[in-house]
Amino acid sequence: MDFDELIDRRNTHCNKWDDMERLFGVSPDTGIAMWVADMDFRPPAAVQNALQKMLDHGVYGYFGNETPYREAIAWWMQARHGWTVDTSDIFTTHGLVNATGLAVTAYTQPGDGVVLFTPVYHAFARTIRAAGRAVVECPLVNNAGRYEFDFAAYDAQMTGAEKMVILCSPHNPGGRVWTREELQGVADFARRHDLILVSDEIHHDLVMSGHTHIPMTKIDGIADRLVMMTAATKTFNIAGAHIGNVIISDPALKKRFADLMMGLGISPNSFGLHMVTAAYSPEGAAWVDALNLYLDGNRRLLEEGLSAIPGVQAMALESTYLSWVDFAGTGMSEDEVKRRIVTEAGVAANYGPTFGKGGETFMRFNFATPRARVQDAVNRISAAFADLQ
Ligand SMILES: Cc1ncc(COP(=O)(O)O)c(C=O)c1O
Repeated sequence: MDFDELIDRRNTHCNKWDDMERLFGVSPDTGIAMWVADMDFRPPAAVQNALQKMLDHGVYGYFGNETPYREAIAWWMQARHGWTVDTSDIFTTHGLVNATGLAVTAYTQPGDGVVLFTPVYHAFARTIRAAGRAVVECPLVNNAGRYEFDFAAYDAQMTGAEKMVILCSPHNPGGRVWTREELQGVADFARRHDLILVSDEIHHDLVMSGHTHIPMTKIDGIADRLVMMTAATKTFNIAGAHIGNVIISDPALKKRFADLMMGLGISPNSFGLHMVTAAYSPEGAAWVDALNLYLDGNRRLLEEGLSAIPGVQAMALESTYLSWVDFAGTGMSEDEVKRRIVTEAGVAANYGPTFGKGGETFMRFNFATPRARVQDAVNRISAAFADLQ
């Protein structure tokens, strides 16, 4: 678990480093990649060993006997989240963006509205629109640097055309770990407006100490309209495996999802199944505990470093390795902020407006990288705003 090791990811078909120049104009030889949400760390040895075993065997046929894989998922949810999963409720998708598209297709019709609490993970809106459904943006309230819901405003916004709401819990990009009361509020909102609730909990294992993630399935009165989505991919940095868990307990919802997957001929890739089975283990759990401690140190460094620049405020993260930083107080235009960070400092970070309403003055920085690189980014960005000091 040497999270300080600088691993060169260039020229490995790595989206984060190898597409940076094309998309940001920042050379991977001189710049720092802080955009795509994957980490610059190797997964735990258990995952590496599982892959090595496959390579050593060398025959890559169809996967059979999913029982240990399903039991590993159920073990993880019980051990880490106190959530009892019936293994027959698990669907394996090609990641959670795929799962979002499947849920939208399974439970809504073209033209229906799908509610998002924005700003939020950008692929939700892209997927909804591509499926011919309407994105209904319900803006979160930024209450002194902390996102909160305003259900009275959302109630007034609903027209009856909305059929689904997608929650990001914990929240990307604001880093909130929603409280039980807030989750109950979302569940009640879904029931009031007869919406299917899709709860994307991909960041559930990456929670800062002092905060506890509550799976939506533990909230009263929502099971009959709930689609849970989790994955090992963010937690263990195996996003390239493109594998996700969709967990549905309601029989009617389950049948619709199963029929759609069958109709599309979707079945998982064996590499992902082997990796997830190995990751959801006591060894994987110990690795995640060490990872969270390391990430917390990086978070502090980045938050304190950037917030020391006059007019810049990083949201106090409760979860994820994605720092959501507000540049509104600098009074600078979006283009000027981008110019300083991307062009001058050579730091490739996500642009706030891609996350929807409320993201206009923000940028998102991925700090799941060795600490020396986070320090380098802080130094470069501080220098790019030195005239404000
Ligand atoms: C909330 C959320 N959902 C889904 C994903 C991506 O999921 P996948 O790689 O499984 O498609 C991300 C990646 O950043 C995310 O933040």
